Order: sequence, then structure tokens, then C-alpha cells
Amino acid sequence: MKYGFFDGSNKEYVIERPDTPVPWINYLGVENYCGLISNTAGGYSFYKDPKLRRITRYRYNNVPVDRPGRYIYIRNNGTGDFWSPTWQPACKSPDKYECRHGLSYTRISYSYKKTDTQILYFVPLGDNCEIWRMKIKNSSERAGQFDIFAYVEFCLWEAQREMVDWDHAVTKFKNNAIYNVTQYPQRGVTGFCSYLWSSQPVVSWDGFRDSFIGKYHSETNPIAVENGCCNNVHACGWSACGALHNKIELEPGEEKSVTFILGYAENDDNENKVFDKYANPENITRAFNQLKDYWADVLSHYCVTSPDEQLNQMVNIWNQYQVCTTFNWSRTASYYEEGIGRGMGFRDSCQDTQGFVYQIPSKVRQRLIDLFSTQFSNGRVAHQYSPLTKQGFEPNEGDGRLWQASDDHLWMALAVDDYIKETGDLDFLNQPIPFSDGSASSLYEHLKRAIIYTWNQTGHYGLPKIKTVDWNDCLKINLFSDKDMAVSVMVAEQFVLSARITANLARLCNHSNDAAEILQMAQEMMDRINNHAWDGKWYVRAFDNQGVPLGSSKEKYGRIWLNSQVWAVISGVAQPDRAIQCMDSVYENLFTKYGVALFKPAYPSWDIKVGSLSTYPPGVKENGSIFCHTNPWAIIAECILGRGNRAYEYYKANLPCCANDVAEIRCAEPYIYAQTIKSDEHRDFGQASNSWLTGAASWNFKAASQYILGIQPDYDGLKIDPCIPSHFKSLSVTRKFREALINIQIENPHCLNKGVKSLLVNGNKIEGNTLPGKYSKKTVNVTANII
Ligand code: GLC
Repeated sequence: MKYGFFDGSNKEYVIERPDTPVPWINYLGVENYCGLISNTAGGYSFYKDPKLRRITRYRYNNVPVDRPGRYIYIRNNGTGDFWSPTWQPACKSPDKYECRHGLSYTRISYSYKKTDTQILYFVPLGDNCEIWRMKIKNSSERAGQFDIFAYVEFCLWEAQREMVDWDHAVTKFKNNAIYNVTQYPQRGVTGFCSYLWSSQPVVSWDGFRDSFIGKYHSETNPIAVENGCCNNVHACGWSACGALHNKIELEPGEEKSVTFILGYAENDDNENKVFDKYANPENITRAFNQLKDYWADVLSHYCVTSPDEQLNQMVNIWNQYQVCTTFNWSRTASYYEEGIGRGMGFRDSCQDTQGFVYQIPSKVRQRLIDLFSTQFSNGRVAHQYSPLTKQGFEPNEGDGRLWQASDDHLWMALAVDDYIKETGDLDFLNQPIPFSDGSASSLYEHLKRAIIYTWNQTGHYGLPKIKTVDWNDCLKINLFSDKDMAVSVMVAEQFVLSARITANLARLCNHSNDAAEILQMAQEMMDRINNHAWDGKWYVRAFDNQGVPLGSSKEKYGRIWLNSQVWAVISGVAQPDRAIQCMDSVYENLFTKYGVALFKPAYPSWDIKVGSLSTYPPGVKENGSIFCHTNPWAIIAECILGRGNRAYEYYKANLPCCANDVAEIRCAEPYIYAQTIKSDEHRDFGQASNSWLTGAASWNFKAASQYILGIQPDYDGLKIDPCIPSHFKSLSVTRKFREALINIQIENPHCLNKGVKSLLVNGNKIEGNTLPGKYSKKTVNVTANII
């Protein structure tokens, strides 16, 4: 069953009925202001940080679902009947409903009893506010008088604390707007405000939720809307809201517009300027067009035309869009992440930059500086940091021990490597960056200390200690043990890759002694893995405190794990025979029709050996689900092995748009990757959750754009090394690379998977498959034949 379709020409996903299996959302804003909006206008907004600067409230796991939001009510003054032109929260059956989620905007059309509305929501570039532009048309034969109410529930900035502490709330009405002016200076909340403004004269208003909604009413039937008038009551210590009431008269066939602006302002902002600007509809149109131009430019950096429309649509539009969203908001605020627990994750953010760097490299440069500034001088990094304060911090699990991920710092080299390959900016390695507990040193030195840190933290078999966790946040092998000897094979493999990259970067910035030393460490670690972690048909995943393997054929549960196989291949630890053997084991044991499971069999109940992952039911999240973040690693590994058909099979199985027609099974949005899909060990096999903010975005873009389609930035140019399914006979890619526009035509006359040996560059043959990086500010035409 489907709930909508892709409109490729407008780059929109069109939802045709409001009662989607779960709210299908979009993100407004690509700079500091962010709004999450569902297909029925639910969601919330924040400025920079959803924990410390939350503008509106949202109730997670609420009944009814998805409340509150950015709501409008329309009341027919003649009949007293009222509805919401976004279906929720009044939920009156529409004659027509359509929601179009576009790139950083959402448009909801609704017809109810011959009144047609269309609301466009977006955040204009350069302003810290969101525009709700509603057109309303009277399609009946009689003149109508309508009361229009706009409503938000203000949050008092600190999203967690204010759930229970509302005594500070203060709102006021001025300049045709309701302001939330709540301050509490002792917590640094001072000098800023949020507001809701209307372009039409406000005839009544409320700043006090109890006054607008009414006690024992809800958003479905606010008392003010029932009565056709607000009560002009502001909040004075409790339950702040913004509600504005306009009146509109419409002749038969007449259409009018009203604009509401929800925004954030600081001391020196003059929000009147924003009101004046957007009171003129031409400026709204201009701002909207600027947003469209912004996205047209971003998407022009990578564009493929292949024989597979679904791949084209995901690579060219939706995957790139999600990559930008994850770069901006890491795992902070989604419909699953409530924006109060985690800040920007260190490992997550490093990985997010890898998919995003081709879009806006300068933003990645700054992000890496911010991230690496949370590193300690011993090489360890803080697991997360606040986007507002930029201070690093560790999760608090309350058992008094230092929380330490063994992998966080090993993602640094990969992110830097991708940035340098994209830009050629080798100088970045010399960038001074402070340590959080000491003086500054070069970025290269930060990378080196990360390597040395892991090298000095080994347990059984000389492999890296797993510490609290590794990439798998729920794999707590050391739980209830102070021995700290458990080790992670995945981290060992990551170490090998990270060390090799760091050695390469050392060479490029003239630290050749370091390069040799670090390469030697990589080689030794590789030997340790191959000597101790090979189980016969695959690599084990870890060893516990006693040195007993996890992920071996002798076990009942968790016999084979994906990550230690794919990383063995990606890092180059596995030599060809083992690489093929372990990836075949993955295919035989872990592949399902919706993607590759994290491991199998899942743990049926609590198991102290693996800790908190076994608290999830079998097939859910870290307990053996199809973790979409890891599926592109399998694709990349298969491409490294040259097996394009299998890589493509994995890619398609996990591609969100392929679940469009089984939306009742998938539940989550079909235009966006989810973090996880329940595996075939679960009753609801195929059901996805934690959509939007996931490493699946960045890694899938990398897997598709650089490995399947094979357009790989390298230090000295652009490598063309596709690994495609054999039925792709030709395809083309347009890539902006270091200021050149490169048109690449790939021909596959013999139905192979891989094998570009030479290139035709503007008609001249060059040997090898790397287009030199010298083609700046030019259009270059390249033909590559797979032979
Ligand atoms: C989530 C976390 C990520 C972690 C993964 C596996 O996606 O954001 O940091 O690696 O889960 O536990």
C-alpha cells in the first residue's frame, strides 16, 4: 500500500493522505534555525541547539500522536464549524489533502467544505525565522467570513528542564505579534526572545495556553477557536503559547493570503525588519526562490543518469538532502531523537562530513576544527559536544565509571582524508587546533595522537580494548567487570585503516619517520587480527574479558557479525581469499530482502555477555536488526572485491524508495534512510525507525557515488572506478570537483562490473583511471570504458 509518490521534476515527495503510518517529516532551515515539520504540520523548532534554544514544544510518544505543531485553525463564522487546514489537530475529513515535502520546504493543500487552502512553510536564508504563507480561497457560491487562528506552544528554551518548570514563562503582545520573553539569567537564558507574527491585523490574541486551549480541552478543540475569539491573556509564570486571531472575508471565488512568522531574535536583532520585509509578498517569493537556487546549486555538484530511475532519484535528490540534514544536526533532533540527550556525536559527525564534504567543504573544515578541539592531549576525544557552546562531554550512564568509546578518535583520519581529497587543501594538516586540556598543535598532531592512543590501549591478543563500547553503542562486553581486557576486532580493523591513512598524510606533510612507524603499527595490528580473529569462515567480532570470542561459529547467538567482515575488507586486513570467504558468509547468513542484518542469530533475552544490546527484542536496533548505517559498508566491501552485482543487490534491498509501495510495512518515510529496519527475526520484519539522522545517509551516498558509480576524489585528481551491475550498459555523471565541471560518460559494452583502464579526456587518451586535478575552472568531458 502506498501513501504517496515521488515528483522528480519538482524534487518533491507528495503525500496523498494525512494518516501516514507514522508522521512523515521534513526539515526546514539549512543554517542556524531549524524546524521539524510533519505531513500534518506537527513538529517543533529550535535555534542552533534543540536542548538549550528550543523555540516550540513537542511531546514525544504522545497520544494522540504528533503534537503539538505549527497549527492554523479556520472557523467559518457563519456556521461555527472549524477545521485545521493541515488535518491535525482538528482532524476534520478533508475533501482534498496533499502534502509536498520539498528541499527545505513543505506545502500542505487542503480543501474542506469549499474552502481551499495551501500553506507553504520554509525558513528563508539569512533570517532566523520560519514563514507560514497561507492562501485561502472561497470556492463556494456564498460570501464567507472566516476566523483564522495561528497557534504554537512556546518552549522556555531549555527543553528538558522546562518540561517540569514553567514558573518563569512570560509572554507579551506587541507589533502584531506574541512574544515569548521568558528569561532566567542564572542559567544564561537572557537577551533573546521568540515570536509569532501575523501579516493581517490581529483582532484577538493569547499568550497563555490555558486561556487559548482551555482546561480539559486539547489542540483538537481549543476553547478560543470554538468561541471564535481569543482572550487577550498573556503568560505570567506558566504555560506560554502564541495564538493570533485574524478575520478574513472572502467573496465567492475570491482568494487571499495571510503570512505568519515564527522566529527567534537576539538583543541586537530588529525583528520589525523581518516583519516589514515579509509583509511584502514579493519578498517571500524572492526568499523562496533563493532557497530553491541554493538547493539547485548544491545538487549540481553530483548528478547521475543511470538506467535505474530509483537510484538516480535517491542519489541526485533525497540522499544528498539527507546528507546535508545529518551534517547539520547530527543525531540531535528528529522524531526519534528528542533533542535533549545527545549533542553532536563525535564519531557520528566525523562520518557525516564524509558524505557532505563535496557539498560545502568550508563547512566541513570548520566542523572538523570544532570537533578536534574537544580532543584531549592524550589522543582521546569527548564522545559528543554541544553545538551551541562547542564544549565536549561524555554520556552519563550513572555507574561512576568514565564513559569511553574505543572508536571515536579513529574516525578523525577518515574525515580529514576525505576533506583533503575533495579540496586538495593539504595545508589543513598544519592548522593549529587546541586540545581541550592543553595548548594547540597542528591538526596532523591530533591525528597522530589518536593513533598512538589506541596503540597503547590493548588487551587480549594485542587488540584494542573495547572500553565502554565501540561503534556499537550497546555492545557492553565490559559490563560489570573492572578487568578491562575485552577487545574489539572492529576497532582493530578501523585502527589499521586509520593508521594507514595517517601514515599517508604524515608522508604528505613531510613527517616520513612518523609515516614509517605508523605503517609498522598498522602491519602488526593486521597480523594480530589475522592470527587470532579468523574463525574459519569469518572474523569474530570481539573477545570478552576472559579472551573468549564473540561472533564465532561455536556460539548459539551472535554467531556471525557484519561489521568485522566488512571492515576487514575496507581496511585491507583480509587478504583476497579471506575477503571473499567472509563476504560470502555475510551473504549466506545475514542478507534479507530489506538489507543485511547486523548479526545473527539475535539474542532472545538479556545476556550479560553482550550487555545492553540484548535488552532490545530480537531483530530490533543493535540486537541484530538491519542497521542501515552498516549496509553501505557491505556495498563498499563488495565493490572493493569487484562484485558489482552483489553490491547493487545490497544497495537496492536497502533503498528507501523501493519500500514506497509497502509503506504499511516500512512505516517510516520512503524518501529517507532510517537508522534501522526490523530483521526477519522480528514479527514486524521490514518496519523502519529512527529515520533521518543516521550514518546511513552519508555512507550510502559515499557507497553509491564513489563505489558503485565510482567517482572517487583522490589526492591528485578524480579517480573513475565504477563497480556497477552488469546490466548497466552506460551511464553518465556530472561532478563539480575543485571548481571544474566534469562530465563523465561511462560505457560498459561487455556487461562487466569493473575495469576502467584508460580515460578519454576532452578527446585525448590518458593511461590509468585518474583524471589529474589540474583542470580547475573548466568544463572537462571524460569517457571511461569498462573493458
Ligand atoms: C547510532 C549512533 C551511532 C552508533 C550506532 C550503533 O546510530 O548514533 O553513534 O555508532 O547507533 O550503535
